[in-house]
Amino acid sequence: MTPYKHLDRSIAGKTLLVTGAASGMGRATAHLFAREGANVMATDMNGEGVQVVAEEIRAAGFENVQAMALDVSDHDALKASVEATVKAFGGLDILINNAGFARLAHPSEDAYEDIWHASVNVMLTAHQRLIRAALPHLMKTETGGRIVNIASTEGLGATPGNGPYVAAKHGVIGLTRAMAVDLGRDGVTCNAICPGPIETGINASIPDDHKVIYAKRRVPLRRYGIPEEVANITLSLCLPAASYLNGAIIPVDGGMSIKNA
Ligand code: NAI
Repeated sequence: MTPYKHLDRSIAGKTLLVTGAASGMGRATAHLFAREGANVMATDMNGEGVQVVAEEIRAAGFENVQAMALDVSDHDALKASVEATVKAFGGLDILINNAGFARLAHPSEDAYEDIWHASVNVMLTAHQRLIRAALPHLMKTETGGRIVNIASTEGLGATPGNGPYVAAKHGVIGLTRAMAVDLGRDGVTCNAICPGPIETGINASIPDDHKVIYAKRRVPLRRYGIPEEVANITLSLCLPAASYLNGAIIPVDGGMSIKNA
């Protein structure tokens, strides 16, 4: 029999760049990866907010983190963030495209057009730009470069009034599959996570009682998730041992997307 081959389940010493890390799932991802021994470049358009997150991580005893202001809609700044990461930590092994926002509009509203452009720019175009900027470094990674795109259950279906976001997130799923197919030969995997309702800044304005009613009606686990529950799945996709997972679209939604009634 072929001897059992133990695959590495540690990201210690790997370098991660994560966008949108001042809040919610990006923040939880920065915390978790730093705790697991990765070097973390935490970025966000909220430069002060992401510095605070880096300080939290250092205060918890993990020095392997740096923060930088990055608006992902700025193409040059995306390239600069990759260069800064490589300069700080000597390489780039893992990229998490996470930054995003939610702005509702009905197709009959004039605002739809602007929201469309902003949504596609921040939550789709920026992903491919950052992937392409990071690619030369991801390809050099010994155990295989890792890309995780944070899509949404809005990439699998549609909620009324959310068209631009829905279109961008469906695009993220297409981009993930396209990158998985194109980059496989370079040993780089690209997967996407589709979070369901997760308690973060993006939905902070929804009253708690509405969230409870929604979750009980729609989610088999009958609650919102917490950012850490998504960050841990993101981490799983980035392990050296996750070496044969490529182009997967993974819901982390308490079962919401498979519930019929
Ligand atoms: P959040 O609002 O807590 O965090 C999003 C972060 O992205 C913020 O810190 C914000 O400053 C940053 N950001 C927004 N635009 C940016 C830009 N142009 N450049 C750089 N940073 C920018 O929200 P959350 O929920 O943690 O969002 C993370 C991702 O998860 C987003 O892509 C969102 O669409 C996605 N998502 C969230 C769900 C939820 O229920 N919370 C469900 C499904 C997907």
